[in-house]
Amino acid sequence: MQLIDGKTIAATVKSEIANEVKKMIDADQNPPHLAAILVGNDPASETYIASKERACKEVGFTSSVYRMSENTSEEELLKTIEFLSNDEDVNGYIIQLPLPKHIDTNAIIAAMDPKKDVDCFHPENVGRMAMDMPCFLPATPAGIMMLLERSNIETEGKNCVVVGRSNIVGTPISILLSRNSKKANCTVTLCHSRTKNLKEVCASADILVAAIGKPEFITADMVKEGAVVIDVGIHRMEDNSEKGYKIVGDVKFDEAAPKCSFITPVPGGVGPTTIVSLLSNTLKARKNQLNF
Ligand code: GUN
Repeated sequence: MQLIDGKTIAATVKSEIANEVKKMIDADQNPPHLAAILVGNDPASETYIASKERACKEVGFTSSVYRMSENTSEEELLKTIEFLSNDEDVNGYIIQLPLPKHIDTNAIIAAMDPKKDVDCFHPENVGRMAMDMPCFLPATPAGIMMLLERSNIETEGKNCVVVGRSNIVGTPISILLSRNSKKANCTVTLCHSRTKNLKEVCASADILVAAIGKPEFITADMVKEGAVVIDVGIHRMEDNSEKGYKIVGDVKFDEAAPKCSFITPVPGGVGPTTIVSLLSNTLKARKNQLNF
């Protein structure tokens, strides 16, 4: 069993991005600028935003965070989106999800400028991705592709099972892995709450992507001997340690890992490459590479 070291892979890509930023600064150009909108005080969202800000600093990007109260109206949020869309100093922006319940998330995403939508949430960008047109790739799926590619894991012709059909991870990773490309070409099965015989389907996977959002949902009997397992989940689970909790993924790591050829740890697997993919999209936006 080999651990897929997301931290090291992310550090390599970060240094590649930092080199490009240095060249921009040496040429008296502005570095890329990523802005984030955070509505409310969800602790997980606060942690994600702090990690994204830290990563921006590490590679020399400018970053800014627009903090809005839990009671912000949809109208106020739309004004902030319009402001960022028109601000020439901002190359890309994200709206941290989840948004408070009184806000229509799809309407908010549709109001974003697709050229600055570095999360690839806007319907235009999702459509471009599905059609294999030049586009930003959504951060977590792009991070997973980065892990597979940089760990030299063969994907062509493999049976890949994705568990979870969210717009952010499950659905887009199923699209990317089934693309006609040497780095993909998988036969993909997308599983969800209505899937029959889930255990058997998972146990048939050469590559199993766990993105179900349930702690330790994937048990050893759902993993084929020699499978590659990518664990997208990250959860706090209470225990008797000094901290009172441990961080776990969607996979029961201790029992599944011995059966795997490769597995991502949690933390230190998918998380770091997700953030790097966001940086990579922001660099792309700064260079205006996509010719929308
Ligand atoms: N909430 C959970 N994951 C993400 C993400 O990748 N982007 C944004 N904007 N919000 C999230």
